[in-house]
Amino acid sequence: MSRDVPLEAILASLSGPIAEYLTSLPSRAVWRDVSPEEIRQVLDRALPDAPTNAVDVVTDLAAELEPFVTAHASGRYFGFVIGGLHPAAYGAELLAASWDQNAGLFALAPGVMIAEEIAARWIVELLSLPEESSVGFVTGGQMANFTCLAAARDHVLRASGWDVEAEGLSGAPRLYVVAKTGVHATVPRALRYLGLGERTMIEVASDDQDRIVVTELDRVLHDLDGPTIVCVEAGNVNTGAFDDFEGVADALDAHRRRGHPSWGHVDGAVGLLAGAVPGYATTTAALARLDSWSTDGHKLLNVAYDCGVAITRHSAAHRAAMSVHADYLVRDEDPVREALDWNPEFSRRARGLGVYATLRSLGRSGVVEVVERTTRLARRFAKLLGDSGYAQVVNDVAFNQVLVHWPPPPGWSSDAWNDEIIARVQRDGTAFFSGTTWRGQRMMRISVSDHATDEPDVDRAVAALVRGVEAG
Ligand SMILES: Cc1ncc(COP(=O)(O)O)c(C=O)c1O
Repeated sequence: MSRDVPLEAILASLSGPIAEYLTSLPSRAVWRDVSPEEIRQVLDRALPDAPTNAVDVVTDLAAELEPFVTAHASGRYFGFVIGGLHPAAYGAELLAASWDQNAGLFALAPGVMIAEEIAARWIVELLSLPEESSVGFVTGGQMANFTCLAAARDHVLRASGWDVEAEGLSGAPRLYVVAKTGVHATVPRALRYLGLGERTMIEVASDDQDRIVVTELDRVLHDLDGPTIVCVEAGNVNTGAFDDFEGVADALDAHRRRGHPSWGHVDGAVGLLAGAVPGYATTTAALARLDSWSTDGHKLLNVAYDCGVAITRHSAAHRAAMSVHADYLVRDEDPVREALDWNPEFSRRARGLGVYATLRSLGRSGVVEVVERTTRLARRFAKLLGDSGYAQVVNDVAFNQVLVHWPPPPGWSSDAWNDEIIARVQRDGTAFFSGTTWRGQRMMRISVSDHATDEPDVDRAVAALVRGVEAG
């Protein structure tokens, strides 16, 4: 039955609806308020007993689901930290899906494996990270943090005479993990996956931009007498701020000199790409003094979902934490980068192909331009909203994230008003923003992470926000 429909018939039947969707992006509503029930009513049916022609299934699906699609690739989606879709990334995604490659081993999928090998080298070079760094293309920032912290766990425990991969954690030397107040939730979650526990994480105070206070870090490290991992950030999810990497690297060096194996991890899901930009050189120069860096292809680089990147300078630790052997696996005789050595997955899709295609298309100057433009547009938001008289910009807009507080009119609590403004603009459909609780107060976040966003998008979004406020 399935052979009754050649695969190319699927492409032919979907090209119309897909083209229609893509051309609607500049004008369509970015989001619709829908209930799960509405969607179930369209999709839910008894499990079919008999086959249905695949062309009919996917053309129906395209029509049924399209009204419920969130326009993440629209230039007016500013919620969470959602990257757009670079045309080269989109093309690579179509190819990877059509080729259906299992990108675990060179023996399985040689072409895309070498594309990933080159993408890995390019990303290290682009960010001026140590040449010897190893790279895993994972599903996102969460798994990039997990992968880097797994390598960190291996490294600091091995240096303490303990092989965690072989022995597990029972009886291991006490390992300390230090992070700041306001650390992204995916770090403690990764610690949980790694058997290190969330609650044992030692919190260091952060400043008014959620940057780690280095003097506090120093003080905390002085009291720790064992292997230690310190987690910092390139681009805080609320403020966009970068930690003081120089200060953190100095504190870690001093801790090492006191005899404690140490590792500095940078969660760069939001902002590691700043490492490619001369204008951020002062901020990012000391990144390369740390030990691992996670980032996302699917955020500011605008690669398709899902794509994260885990990078460590200690390839032996990275490999020890991730590699796998099985008698039936074929490893190539020639030295080749096998994804199985650097990734937590076994079978996997060729998500690094999107990184290869996007970097090949943007080039170094294109990446610089995306980072600079999104930051400039974030500053435009901050200026226009500040000038409106209705909003307060809470953060120093040093990158592409803006944190906004809406002072309430009489009769509204601050939290309720901030949530109301976000809800009004979401319902309006012109633009999408999401909220956060920062220092105990509800606020609105703006993340400019799409290469497609331009000045008119920002101006339309600000006008929609102002309309929302003036609706009373
Ligand atoms: C700082 C930070 N780290 C990690 C993540 C998780 O990234 P992902 O959703 O790609 O797993 C995010 C997501 O926004 C983030 O902002």
